[in-house]
Amino acid sequence: MRRYDEHVLDELISYAADWTGFSRDAILPDAVRRAAAGLGPPDEVLPRAAARELEVVHALCQAVSVGETYFFRHPEHFRWMATTFLPQLLNAGRSSIRAWSAGCATGEEAYSIAACLLDLMPWPRTVSLEVLGTDLLERNLAAARVGEYGAWSRRPSGPVLHPIFKDTGNGRVRIDEAVRAVTRFCEHNLLEEPPGQFDLIFCRNVLVYFSQHAVRTVVRHLSRALLPGGALLFGSMDVSEPPPDLLRASPPELQIYRRLDARPAAKPPAPAVAPSPEPAPPYVPRVRPPEPVALHLRALVHIDRGEKKRAEKELTDLARQVPDYVPGILERALLHVRMGEKSAASKLMREVLKRIEKLPGDEVLAGPEPLPVSFYRDSAQTFLSSGRGGFE
Ligand SMILES: C[S@@+](CC[C@H](N)C(=O)[O-])C[C@H]1O[C@@H](n2cnc3c(N)ncnc32)[C@H](O)[C@@H]1O
Repeated sequence: MRRYDEHVLDELISYAADWTGFSRDAILPDAVRRAAAGLGPPDEVLPRAAARELEVVHALCQAVSVGETYFFRHPEHFRWMATTFLPQLLNAGRSSIRAWSAGCATGEEAYSIAACLLDLMPWPRTVSLEVLGTDLLERNLAAARVGEYGAWSRRPSGPVLHPIFKDTGNGRVRIDEAVRAVTRFCEHNLLEEPPGQFDLIFCRNVLVYFSQHAVRTVVRHLSRALLPGGALLFGSMDVSEPPPDLLRASPPELQIYRRLDARPAAKPPAPAVAPSPEPAPPYVPRVRPPEPVALHLRALVHIDRGEKKRAEKELTDLARQVPDYVPGILERALLHVRMGEKSAASKLMREVLKRIEKLPGDEVLAGPEPLPVSFYRDSAQTFLSSGRGGFE
């Protein structure tokens, strides 16, 4: 690209960052370059971007976005809903529950929330239930409304905790009618005012890519959208400090925050589900996720986009900087499996085993998802014992 074009690219990245909330670091110049090339010559695209022409806004937001998701992701959040949150709301005599999956990608999260709540509500249902899924990209929402999913949406790290879909017989699944009936989707940018008020808000694995300024704006909007007694849940890497005005209601790694319910409860809440929030310290915007995990997340963005060589380089750099970071070693091994480089993969799988040799199986390792040592041990052993280990 010529010098002038580099300047255009830089301007387009700034627009994409403004429109999405992404930090410039999390935006891949090549992805923006490709999207811009599909729109026309760069010097024509720039004035169209300045005028916020919809076609340009959509193309650049799509280039920047990371749509990684699956059913019952972070299962501990769903267990918390089942054991703590829902019993409390029911005890308080609620006649309706409204939930929001903010940044829902292709809908797996919104349907998982609906399935969990539906499954656990007493029958006959006296409480009305509404789940709203919103995302920046209409393309994601169109897929969510279809409600049919392949194997990638069902991962071992997201166990099917509640009835949610049926097999369609071709390796795909279709969301149950009862779950669809309470779930709807609409386009919404988290940088804008919230689309209503909710008892439960999931905004997970979205803010991890955002600038500090954008995180602050979104957290303010989410907090404003939370009803008394409501809960706001983030992914483990999304925010580093509790939102202002909310109370922490879980160990820090679960990132669950509550708004106290000032209204009198209809029935006294059962002690087993009484809240135990502790006051939040003053709000300080997120600085950065812990470094190895942040670098790992960046490599995942490249993997998501099929840029394997670039991901390999980032994971290699990560290993050089933090040799003990086991999730990064396994990620690199899996990348070699995908690239058909079996002996490089085997070498790294052996390294995974060596690094965790002395660790107890139930110790949880920090990574893009906190997973126990046993997960890393099983993954490496399965691969090494079967040669390829069904990793393709
Ligand atoms: C990695 S996915 C997370 C999906 C789901 N929440 C989960 O945890 O599995 C992030 C989603 O956030 C959406 N997103 C990014 N920026 C956004 C914004 N400014 N407003 C709304 N959605 C946004 C992306 O389009 C993408 O679908």
